[in-house]
Amino acid sequence: MSKQTRKTIIAGNWKMNKTRKAAQELAEAIVAACAKHNDLPEIVVCPPFTALPEVLAAVKGSAVSTGAQNMDYHPSGAFTGEIAPPMLTDLAVKYVIIGHSERRQFFGETNASVNLKLKAALEHKLVPIVCVGETLDERESDLTDNVICHQVAAALADVAIESVDPIVFAYEPVWAIGTGKTCEATEANRVCHLIRSTIDGYYQSSQKGAPAAEMVGNLIPVLYGGSVKASNVDEILSKEDVDGALVGGASLTVEDFLPLILSAQKRKQGSLSKGAV
Ligand code: PGA
Repeated sequence: MSKQTRKTIIAGNWKMNKTRKAAQELAEAIVAACAKHNDLPEIVVCPPFTALPEVLAAVKGSAVSTGAQNMDYHPSGAFTGEIAPPMLTDLAVKYVIIGHSERRQFFGETNASVNLKLKAALEHKLVPIVCVGETLDERESDLTDNVICHQVAAALADVAIESVDPIVFAYEPVWAIGTGKTCEATEANRVCHLIRSTIDGYYQSSQKGAPAAEMVGNLIPVLYGGSVKASNVDEILSKEDVDGALVGGASLTVEDFLPLILSAQKRKQGSLSKGAV
């Protein structure tokens, strides 16, 4: 599968922003803006849990899908403050972000919990967007590739090759998130490619090189995230291995988000690589 046939995805992670009314207004504005365009990429908005019902109602019947920013991996139980996968599917949420670096940094998310959440998402037919990325220290110590390979392989532990198809990965260098520092597009592309080849390698070694495992990494959309905005999105999305973007700050207004959607539309239509760097 080539970049033309893999899904192009623009996902907005609203983080801990927007009350219900503000979330509904933003979702409605995005839907209205998108209604003026055809052949759009996959568009996902991930509001806080509290605003999911309003956002789901606002995007119903439109080109926009909804995702959660996190979830627990247990189906139910005594886990105060957590949200279980069936609670998301009950709302008809389609996507869930797993292992965002803010969860890893501030809320004790580990490679092991990411793996459990990934498996729970697949089991409950949620589309997981699995985030991986190195810190500044790790980059400066030349550990980027080790960290990425390890995070990807750990996330996939015990995930059967037959189940891999819906997974989306996002490369989000921690030092580029919310800092205004974007990873160079060629470097983002290199790491997105590394994610793909790590997936291939993982299944080749775990399945002893079975031919079906050969190209599985090529099926999986890999997004870039970290200070994506209108001024850098074309260059990033023009790269072969970057299938879209996971966006924080620039997803919080329709004025900032729409140009990213339209850039992804150009990628989907194959017109970006010629125009951009
Ligand atoms: P940012 O966040 O676009 O504000 O850097 C990206 C993310 O955290 O997913």
